[in-house]
Amino acid sequence: MSTIKAAITAIGGYVPDYILTNQILETMVDTNDEWITTRTGIKERRILKDKNKGTSFLAIQAAKDLFKKNNTDPKDIDMVIMATATPDMPIAVTGAYVATQIGAINAFSYDLIAACSSFLFGMSVAAKYIESGHHKKVLLIGADKMSSIINYEDRATCIIFGDGAAAVLFEQNTEGLGIQDEYLRTDGAGRPHLKIDAGGSLLPASVETVAKKQHFVFQDGKTVFKFAVSKMADVCEKILKQNNLKGSDLDWFVPHQANKRIIDASAKRLGLPDSKVMINIHKYGNTTSATLPLCLWDYEKQLKKGDNLVFASFGGGFTWGAIYLKWAYDSN
Ligand code: UT7
Repeated sequence: MSTIKAAITAIGGYVPDYILTNQILETMVDTNDEWITTRTGIKERRILKDKNKGTSFLAIQAAKDLFKKNNTDPKDIDMVIMATATPDMPIAVTGAYVATQIGAINAFSYDLIAACSSFLFGMSVAAKYIESGHHKKVLLIGADKMSSIINYEDRATCIIFGDGAAAVLFEQNTEGLGIQDEYLRTDGAGRPHLKIDAGGSLLPASVETVAKKQHFVFQDGKTVFKFAVSKMADVCEKILKQNNLKGSDLDWFVPHQANKRIIDASAKRLGLPDSKVMINIHKYGNTTSATLPLCLWDYEKQLKKGDNLVFASFGGGFTWGAIYLKWAYDSN
């Protein structure tokens, strides 16, 4: 009997219309286009302006885009994994709401929260359900409304993040295509460096936490940068070694879009030319759980059946890792 692998068979995406440019940010905080561009690679990001819409709205649009392109019947989906750092609300699972709204009425769903590694870890989880043989179609959505947790008076964070969503469908593959290997890591020592202090069980919301702006993202950028550069490059090297691959065997590197300098450092360690590195940070910024699938959404037409892809991420927690996947279809 041939082994079942978990292959990506469709992609959908969505970014809101409103474009927050570096020039607009110059009018909001003490920053400038030159600083943002050279330090991060970001030129603009998308923001969901409608205050009555949460992350679920972004996720639903991405899933609908996937269904439109792929002709999948939502009723055939067994499971919806909602990778996000900004669920609509605590307790009521955002993925469950999204699944119902998109007509995935035969699916079960839950939210997977691992900061900027939510989607990467979600790929690993989706693969396990598919590889077990019990599930045939798993929809993994990466979505975040980062603007809901960003302080637009804090120049250390507001220049970085954006809103967006993208979804991928995982299906069984018996041709050896799909997820080949993974190397995932966490280290709780990273907690002080990238976090939201209040609103959880440790420091519930109060008048004081709101006054102190403790419901917004705090990032010690320098420390996170240092870890991200070395850890992301380490796991990329490790995943190649585990699979007896050289950088030249890769067709695409799909890195978390947190900072162009971190991406460049990892690509350099892999010995990859720019032409093999997926980049869209300049137009979306850091969309947290959506960065990896939005890369696939943007580059889908260039992907060919059998292409070797390495995905890598680094995020709060700390959480990080790399996944090696063989692409399963030609888009054209
Ligand atoms: O996705 C989750 C994981 N997150 C990451 O991987 C992000 C990792 N960190 C980073 O990407 C970078 O650390 C940042 C982009 C956040 C910051 O870049 P940096 O090169 O580490 O800058 P810095 O924090 O060391 O600040 C350098 C200088 C400081 O001024 P002084 O002390 O040298 O006078 C800052 O006050 O730049 C100043 N600065 C700014 N200037 C203009 C900080 N933010 C800004 C800004 N505009 N927005």
